[in-house]
Amino acid sequence: MKLWIVAAFAAASTAGLAVHAQVEKYPVPSIVQNNGRYALMVDGAPFLMLGAQSNNSSDWPATLPKVWSAIEYLHANTLETPIYWEQFEPRPGQFDYSQIDMVLAQARAHHVHLVLLWFGTWKNGSQHYMPEWMKLDPDRYAHVVNKIGERLDSPSPFAHASLDADIHAFTAFMHHLKVADPDRTVVIVQVENETGTWGTLRDYSPDANRLFTSPVPDDVLKAMNKTTTGGGGWADVFGPEADVDFHAWAIARYVGKVAAAGKAVYPLPLYVNAALRDPSKGAPGSYESGGPTDNVLSIWKAEAPAIDILAPDIYLLDTPTYLKVLELYHRPDNPLFIPETTGTPQAARFLFAALGLQAIGYSPFGLDYTRTNHPERMVPDNPNAFLEPTAQNYQLLGPMMRDVARLNFEGKLQAVAEVEGQPTQTLHFGAWDAIVSYGGGRGGAAKGNAEPIGRALVAQLNDNQFLVTGFDCRVDFRPAGTEQEKRSQTVVVGTGQTPSVLIDGKWQHRQFLRVEEGAYENGAFKFQRILNGDQTDWGLNFGSEPEVLRAFLATY
Ligand code: DGJ
Repeated sequence: MKLWIVAAFAAASTAGLAVHAQVEKYPVPSIVQNNGRYALMVDGAPFLMLGAQSNNSSDWPATLPKVWSAIEYLHANTLETPIYWEQFEPRPGQFDYSQIDMVLAQARAHHVHLVLLWFGTWKNGSQHYMPEWMKLDPDRYAHVVNKIGERLDSPSPFAHASLDADIHAFTAFMHHLKVADPDRTVVIVQVENETGTWGTLRDYSPDANRLFTSPVPDDVLKAMNKTTTGGGGWADVFGPEADVDFHAWAIARYVGKVAAAGKAVYPLPLYVNAALRDPSKGAPGSYESGGPTDNVLSIWKAEAPAIDILAPDIYLLDTPTYLKVLELYHRPDNPLFIPETTGTPQAARFLFAALGLQAIGYSPFGLDYTRTNHPERMVPDNPNAFLEPTAQNYQLLGPMMRDVARLNFEGKLQAVAEVEGQPTQTLHFGAWDAIVSYGGGRGGAAKGNAEPIGRALVAQLNDNQFLVTGFDCRVDFRPAGTEQEKRSQTVVVGTGQTPSVLIDGKWQHRQFLRVEEGAYENGAFKFQRILNGDQTDWGLNFGSEPEVLRAFLATY
């Protein structure tokens, strides 16, 4: 099979017909949009990336076995792992493809897709992954300088030599992928890693200062909804935000050029990840300046159109902030994609909140068995403890991910995470409301779980037919009424009473015609048994085991 692919690909360079056949067999992954909803298309159909990111230094022959065993335990369908510029281009213009080939071959053997992370000019704001020959020549491959002229541990976005070198290397990398990955193991590429700068708001080099006082480019004015008379400089137009906006513009322009060059060679979906600012209190100076933080997303969109996704690395874990970040990065011009987050038990539920905003992918960080910078996560007598919450999610969603991605793209799916102090949540589906409740025992009113770990997913398959799943929650359905009518009803969900609503003066009561429990096999729901009696009289209950139900509803 593999040989055939390679042969077909070799022939493809000389025969247009073969190219066509190849493209049809394994279309290049892409991101499509319909009515503001996005899908990541892999093998011609919507794909939900259930990923895990390895630790930074794990992509080596000695450590990859400790990555794959974790990926297997997690039931992840995608590994996110870096490609290191320092390894890839040990001498100027000499490229070493061995790391890429190794991870491609191993991913194929494990039947897992890849998101490759180009650790290029920026890594968490630093230039640490630049090859030695660049690190040793800081005059040519310039660093950002601060207000008092000191070089910082961050690359300058105005260093032309660095930009040229990055374009050259990234293009070689993308070209190699195009040739070496005809079966599309790699579905997305991340360009740089957490671009920006710590310790100064912008570059204060003479070049940068000259541009800072020059008129703000028209495309930035337009993107940021600003008007100016007389061609004002950045400080005039943006006031206290001028430095961070300027740095974002400079970095976005640089990364946009790298991305465009790579995409011209091989048009895979590309994204940039953001070290976030706290959206409620992120004053300049309190966060890494220049990356795609929520306040400068429009600048990034304007300056780096080859980047398909601006993606949040979410380590801000309190519930309102996490949900706010999801909202801020779910925009009509930006698919929601979470390339890094935390895999703790309380955070695992946020995957469902992300799916509720049509996320196309999600990936906790550092989920492998190598030495980590979080040794506290490695519990000696339970080495899998830190993987457990993510594994639980993926065991459930992995087999059904094609349906989840498709239903979400079609606008038929809603999903939620438990919020502290909010024991019920209502999802509206036309003639039906789905009521999700947490922490109510049989016959008891919902009071929330002791820890907020509940999550639910409901999709409408037909007018009266729903796919329902989740953990640590109960889902019931109620005929939808007007707000007035809902207020007048006396339903207590989850006490064995039938949810009912007064509509046009007549009570309408929900009845379960049939509740099917099943399991996904080869991507399709397979009926196993009918649930009834105690299993449905108090609604549809989900604990910590993966369970998928199909509910057929009627009223009487
Ligand atoms: C975010 C970065 O993008 C990752 O590469 C890693 O450094 C984590 N922070 C912290 O471990």
